[in-house]
Amino acid sequence: MTAEEALKPAVVVAGASRGIGRAIAKVAAQEGSPVVLVGRAPEQLAGAARDVQAVGGQTFALELDLVSPKAALRLQDFLTDNGLYCDTLVNSAGYGLRGPATGLPLDGQLGIIDLNVRALTDLTLTFLPAMVKRRRGGVLNIGSIAGFTPGPNMALYYASKSFVRSFSEALHEELRHTGVTVTCVAPGPVETEFLSRSGAGRAMLFKVLPRLDADRVAERAWRAYRSGRRLAVPGVSAKIVALVARMLPSAVIVPLIGRLQRRSADPCLCGSGLKYADCCGKHWRTPGSSDRAAS
Ligand SMILES: NC(=O)c1ccc[n+]([C@@H]2O[C@H](COP(=O)([O-])OP(=O)(O)OC[C@H]3O[C@@H](n4cnc5c(N)ncnc54)[C@H](OP(=O)(O)O)[C@@H]3O)[C@@H](O)[C@H]2O)c1
Repeated sequence: MTAEEALKPAVVVAGASRGIGRAIAKVAAQEGSPVVLVGRAPEQLAGAARDVQAVGGQTFALELDLVSPKAALRLQDFLTDNGLYCDTLVNSAGYGLRGPATGLPLDGQLGIIDLNVRALTDLTLTFLPAMVKRRRGGVLNIGSIAGFTPGPNMALYYASKSFVRSFSEALHEELRHTGVTVTCVAPGPVETEFLSRSGAGRAMLFKVLPRLDADRVAERAWRAYRSGRRLAVPGVSAKIVALVARMLPSAVIVPLIGRLQRRSADPCLCGSGLKYADCCGKHWRTPGSSDRAAS
């Protein structure tokens, strides 16, 4: 037996310390493979490990900032050192920021690209070639219904999730008949820290849409992955939103999303120092029409 053949298959969950990733780790562990939990917060990682062990899973935890240089190679080394290889990669690490792109900190917005796009791509393309060689395994990428339309007032996040969907769907097709699958799961709002951390939870759009429970999303995501699905949108309301976003012309859907994600208490971008609602927001007409009505 070669050293490579002695390695055991593992499920690697990037972004496992809390939220959807942590819930997916619990579901995956029930199948019996070791689960490698990746995240930055040591206490939350330890909590996730206890959760997974409680359902009978074997865990390995790696504290790793996925946007740090050579993060994917460090993960690869960690697996080998522990006698494992990546059989399933779950990319759940991600964040967003609500607010106008010109008003949010640039670093935070570039960080969205670094994590949601660059790190996800790095991990995926680091582990996929060996999966193809073995003719087994796959990748489960957590996208969002945000990936179906541009999203004013959360522009970078929506664009990053559009990338995740496009990249995943393309890979799924490229890998047809290889025994390896790539699945993108695109949930609507899920009850996790993401909503408060990003500020999205305070926007009207996320108040009107029903929120799913992370455990429920995880079960559906894992089922979609195991069935080799290309794309899955968990929940009826999210399915409707995804369908509507794909059918409506951009001239209608983009202003509508922008309006539902802007808060009247937001500071006005014109620099007046007033609230948006008391300044340029007074000129807002209906979604789909020009932003500034002739008054
Ligand atoms: N919640 C929603 O409404 C919703 C809806 C649709 C899609 N999503 C997507 O679902 C995925 C999971 O989100 P969630 O709701 O579970 O959010 P969450 O509770 O905030 O979890 C995010 C996870 O990403 C990890 N993470 C963040 N930055 C990282 C970094 N630099 N390196 C390593 N890990 C990092 C966090 O761990 P550490 O902080 O410990 O590093 C945490 O485990 C994201 O891609 C999100 O865009 C969420």
